Amino acid sequence: MDNFTFYSPTYFVFGKDEENKTGSLVKRFGGSKVLIHYGGGSIVRSGLLDRVKDSLNKEGIDFVELGGVQPNPRSGLVYEGIELCRKEKIDFVLAVGGGSTIDSSKAIAAGVVYEGDFWDYFQGKPITKALPIGTILTISAAGSEGSSDAVITNEDGMYKRGSRGEALRPSFSILNPALTQTLPHFQIGCGITDIMAHLFERYFTVTEEVEVTDRLIESLLLTMIHEGPRVIENHDNYHAQANIMWAGMMAHNNSCGVGRDQDWASHDIEHELSAIYDCAHGAGLAVVFPAWMTYTMKHDINRFAQLAVRVWGCQMDYKHPENTARAGIAALKQFLKSIGMPSDFAELGADKKDIEKMAHTACYGDGRDGYIGGFAKLGEADVVEIYRLML
Ligand code: NZQ
Ligand code: ZN
Repeated sequence: MDNFTFYSPTYFVFGKDEENKTGSLVKRFGGSKVLIHYGGGSIVRSGLLDRVKDSLNKEGIDFVELGGVQPNPRSGLVYEGIELCRKEKIDFVLAVGGGSTIDSSKAIAAGVVYEGDFWDYFQGKPITKALPIGTILTISAAGSEGSSDAVITNEDGMYKRGSRGEALRPSFSILNPALTQTLPHFQIGCGITDIMAHLFERYFTVTEEVEVTDRLIESLLLTMIHEGPRVIENHDNYHAQANIMWAGMMAHNNSCGVGRDQDWASHDIEHELSAIYDCAHGAGLAVVFPAWMTYTMKHDINRFAQLAVRVWGCQMDYKHPENTARAGIAALKQFLKSIGMPSDFAELGADKKDIEKMAHTACYGDGRDGYIGGFAKLGEADVVEIYRLML
């Protein structure tokens, strides 16, 4: 295990009706004038926005609203949010929604207190300062409620980039699993896939002797495999939603990733797809991951076989561990199909004519050095091959 530091100061409030504590939590974390940031309207239709406003009013906290965050959140609304916060003297950003809303809120919170262009942060500048952020999560997926990351699509060229900084960790996050019961079937599947992807990105590592994080990841994957289909079958299964919601947070606040190298090439490969075709991030990952696994398993066949045995219950073939590894990938594909995820370019709405362009941007965009991936170092030609495996 490698040396590491881990600081995850978010105050989590989990359970039914806990959004009614929003006002007191904002107060506790120093907010006196709040930007309520949200998406395309699901929180208006469900009545959540009204409950949040009531809670702020009860504590006498002022607020302004900015809705309209699109999935794969755009830079334009971030600039608008920064201007609004400056004009209104906002001191706390409250994200009510999913990963897209939370990431847009994080980018606004960092941009408000920065004199330059917020996009600098998405070109490698570390974020050290931001307004405090609170979140009320409505979909278990991206893990942004506990992470130090944000992902934004730059509309000038339509490319998607991530940024990172401890200042982006939310001060508090309210996780009420009942809020996810209004999600459409497809979004639930996308969320399950993204959570599993965050675990795979950490599982595939070159670091040795990382049993504790291996085992944590495996247990979370087993939880997803058990609870995912139960939620897909019955959206009102509160306890299954609750297990998935907490697994989603655990999968990405990096408690499973400390002390080990991580990969993240699949996310880079997917971000090109969601930037160009505006597909859901989880749906893109469902197509990318089996292809990435098939291409990279030669780098450490035993690790793939271990995952197949411990998580998918495959029989170990000691003479030909590649057979076990392949059986694990087949089991993953089957699972993704069973939860309604696409399996190839056609189902995703992607076009093979863009493969070379996407591979180039994934490897060289925004100052990258031509390679992506910590477990398997991939160059442009490798990424082209991985995209071709998705046809
Ligand atoms: O916009 P509204 O109307 O709210 O509808 C949303 C949106 O259409 C809907 N939705 C959310 N909660 C709902 C609901 N509909 C009904 N009932 C509810 N309770 O779901 C749709 C998707 O929402 P979105 O926020 O885009 O989903 P998700 O949480 O999957 O976020 C995806 C974004 O997160 C980024 C992705 O790249 C993508 O842009 N990621 C962020 C990460 C991070 N910050 O740490 C890590 C991830 O790997 C990921 O890259
Ligand atoms: Zn993800």
